[in-house]
Amino acid sequence: MNQYLPGLAGVPATKSNISEIDGEKGKLYYRGYPIEQLAEYSSFEETTLLLLDGELPTKDALATFSEQLRANNRVKYHIRELMKTLPSMGHPMEMLQTAVASLGMFYPGNECLTGGDACEDLNYIHNMTVKIIARMGTVVAMWEHIRNGYDPIPPRTDLSHAENFLYMLNGEEPDPILAHIMDVCLILHAEHTINASTFAVLVNGSTLASPNTVIASAIGALSGPLHGGANQKVVEMLTEIGTPDNAEKYVEEKLANKEKIWGMGHREYKTKDPRATILQGMVEKLMKSRGGNVNPLLETAMAVEKAAEDRLSHKGVYANVDFYSGILYSEMGVPSDQFTAIFAMARSAGWMAHWREQLSDNRIFRPTQMYTGVEPRDYKPIEKRA
Ligand code: COA
Repeated sequence: MNQYLPGLAGVPATKSNISEIDGEKGKLYYRGYPIEQLAEYSSFEETTLLLLDGELPTKDALATFSEQLRANNRVKYHIRELMKTLPSMGHPMEMLQTAVASLGMFYPGNECLTGGDACEDLNYIHNMTVKIIARMGTVVAMWEHIRNGYDPIPPRTDLSHAENFLYMLNGEEPDPILAHIMDVCLILHAEHTINASTFAVLVNGSTLASPNTVIASAIGALSGPLHGGANQKVVEMLTEIGTPDNAEKYVEEKLANKEKIWGMGHREYKTKDPRATILQGMVEKLMKSRGGNVNPLLETAMAVEKAAEDRLSHKGVYANVDFYSGILYSEMGVPSDQFTAIFAMARSAGWMAHWREQLSDNRIFRPTQMYTGVEPRDYKPIEKRA
């Protein structure tokens, strides 16, 4: 192929059997299972094992894996000390990238990645996978306390991944409804084919870099507002709009200025993102369970979605996963700048699955380019330059 396609739109960058999107029908499958069924019946731990191994686990396998996650969710105090030196005003995604990149220094042992073309030590791959997934939530929750001047709350060994995260964040056992919502949010964000951050995993993983640095690079990619960073932008946008009756005017003006409506549009979906539908349903259910008190952000969001759809659906632009997730996180008391870090903590499952898949049949990524610069020329001494 010698055609240049900006953003590699439609260009397969790998073969993968982890997840699949049907963008015309608005469907998403993890290992063949529809996302709606996983959201309804699975847990983050089970979904993670499905993504990693390809099959729904047996009861014993799930218990072992959940135990492994719990046994590895503490981090050395050196990481806490390092985090304390970071500026409290820093963005949680920059903190997360720093902390995850540093894990490799505090937990060395990547011998298997220094030889041959790939790593065949399946124990090493599994252990690193468990450790990274287990530690992500701990680091995100730790930061909430450290940046406010407090010591972090250590994880417990008797809670699920979602419960533990909320426990470490708020210092109390979570309300079961909120813990369930967090679990579903983690499932919905766990994987999404070859997007920008997962592609970063493949590229970095293909060099046999340490998995901590591989995930740190993915966190960097996810932080951008065109990718995971959009969930924070959405809630900031809805807060700025204020009330549903301002939605039409806001959308009209943004589009007239050729600006984005955050949380709308997707390269792959030409319909509403199925995850947005599930998340919206969960916000509505949560409101009902709270006696019908409607979060003002929800009403504004629905008005913005309608106004944007009226003007953008002909381009195949509809609400994506980031449109409703932030409203749920706000209901759990999570500050908006932490939303993308929660996304990263969930996506670590998919990232690790892709890292494993890449290593199982590795070839270093080295694409080519279309050179558009000047012809070869001779160096000109500085005194002869105009
Ligand atoms: N607001 C307004 N217009 C949008 C839009 C949005 N959120 N998303 C796409 N469009 C328009 C583009 O302006 C373009 O219009 P044009 O053909 O008249 O130029 C058309 O829809 C196609 O969009 P394009 O930017 O080419 O799509 P892409 O596949 O390159 O980008 C996104 C996909 C996700 C980066 C893009 O939709 C976007 O920036 N969305 C907002 C950020 C966001 O929510 N990101 C999270 C993704 S999960």
